[in-house]
Amino acid sequence: MNYSLLTSSNPSEVKSDCLVVSIFADKKLSIAAQQIDNASNELISRFLNVADFSGKCGESHLLYADTGLQCPRILLIGCGKENEFNQKTACTVIKTASKKIAKTSAKHATLFLLDTLSERIICEQSIRQSILTFADSIYRFDKYKSEVKDKSKLQQVCIAFTTEPPCDVATMLEQGKAIAKGMHLSRDLANQPANVCTPTFLAETAQSLGRQYNSVKVEVLDETEMQELGMGAFLSVSKGSKQPAKMIVLHYNGANDSSRPIALVGKGVTFDTGGISIKSSSNMDEMKFDMCGAASVMGTVNACAEMQLPLNLVAVLAAAENMPSSEATKPGDIVTSMSGKTIEVLNTDAEGRLVLCDALTYVGRYNPEVVIDTATLTGACLVALGHHICAVFANSDELAKDIMEAGSDINDKAWQLPMDETYSKQLKSAFADLGNIGGSTAGTITAACFLAKFTEEYEWAHLDIAGTAWKGKDATGRPVPLLSQYLINKASNKH
Ligand code: BES
Ligand code: MN
Ligand code: ZN
Repeated sequence: MNYSLLTSSNPSEVKSDCLVVSIFADKKLSIAAQQIDNASNELISRFLNVADFSGKCGESHLLYADTGLQCPRILLIGCGKENEFNQKTACTVIKTASKKIAKTSAKHATLFLLDTLSERIICEQSIRQSILTFADSIYRFDKYKSEVKDKSKLQQVCIAFTTEPPCDVATMLEQGKAIAKGMHLSRDLANQPANVCTPTFLAETAQSLGRQYNSVKVEVLDETEMQELGMGAFLSVSKGSKQPAKMIVLHYNGANDSSRPIALVGKGVTFDTGGISIKSSSNMDEMKFDMCGAASVMGTVNACAEMQLPLNLVAVLAAAENMPSSEATKPGDIVTSMSGKTIEVLNTDAEGRLVLCDALTYVGRYNPEVVIDTATLTGACLVALGHHICAVFANSDELAKDIMEAGSDINDKAWQLPMDETYSKQLKSAFADLGNIGGSTAGTITAACFLAKFTEEYEWAHLDIAGTAWKGKDATGRPVPLLSQYLINKASNKH
């Protein structure tokens, strides 16, 4: 898809397959709608006079122009009260438009939807949001379909304004495109079946990213090297699998070397059978998505490199396959993590924290300014927050706040859950320093408490994306927007 911008333009002079304009509450025409109306023998007014269309947020109607215009289709979008138009309305309106356009055979669409925005921040958010929404509306994972039906015809989206908008539109366009690209990579990786997307495949994808961008360097640690580092927890997960584990480290260099990096860590379990504590078979295919944390970290590195953000990043993907076999880790086995802490593996299905704890210890060597991990860690997170909002934990409330703000900025929300010391007690083991499960209650919190024991040396946050990383049978690309926005905010606060 191609995205472009048009400012200070008159829609009646625009050539496009489909022009999209706002109608506000009580049939009030936006400037763009008025200009079209004037040029088309009042096409819009004549329609509104007789139609059941009031301009409520989310309403839409497609008109066909036969006179005076360069465009055959005029799509009217209800935007609610003009003075109440905000980021949330913008989201609804853009989504409605993208769905309607997809139903036509238009190849090119020009959107006059953000015209009345007078606030810089909302203008910025809405431009990025427009691109993410359209990218999402045409995304299909059809690599393994011999025949592709209902493919969207849309190739070009132009975000247009009748005036000079109150923000740096070109930068917002670039950021939106970069984040959409990162989400695309993340979704493609996650949607791949687990017989293709193995830890080795993730490593190769990272290496190809390193070839695409001079600013990205990639290292891949194999099992022997991980053994030498003492990563007994990480390696206990891949023990039952023929697929060797990989610890993939990507370095993005956008600032001078003396600037401390921001670290991102992703759970990359390419398939989670549960191991010896095997899962039930219903929907087990979805456990190919258990590498969504790693995929979103890779996508965020892609977005960051594309935007050339002035900061340094170190990204660690903890990739392994969790399988049962005669060599697999058994419930009750005790392993020693890189930190020196011993862990009793009471349930081999609580494997995410085992790969993550060693990756989190490892990343400490880069003296990171802040560390954020993201993982499809607990089924309990789905129970708590559903598919809409991911859980965030942090050892600094300031950091949790920054993450939640970034999430709201880009409509990829996170909500903070508590991590009180009392929950940690649930992780006691009779024989080792800690157990890898915390009992039947507060599973999302006890998993975070487990990780917290390995992150005391730095500022750290954890995102449990079990509910948001995929929906139905399709990866969402979340939390690439949240992480990218966090980094954008971070980069702009520094300068
Ligand atoms: N990958 C799963 C968590 C998961 C389950 C995410 C379903 C999304 C949907 C994780 O490895 C796991 O199995 N967690 C266990 C932990 C339990 C054994 C303490 C869980 O949530 O049941
Ligand atoms: Mn599991
Ligand atoms: Zn898992």
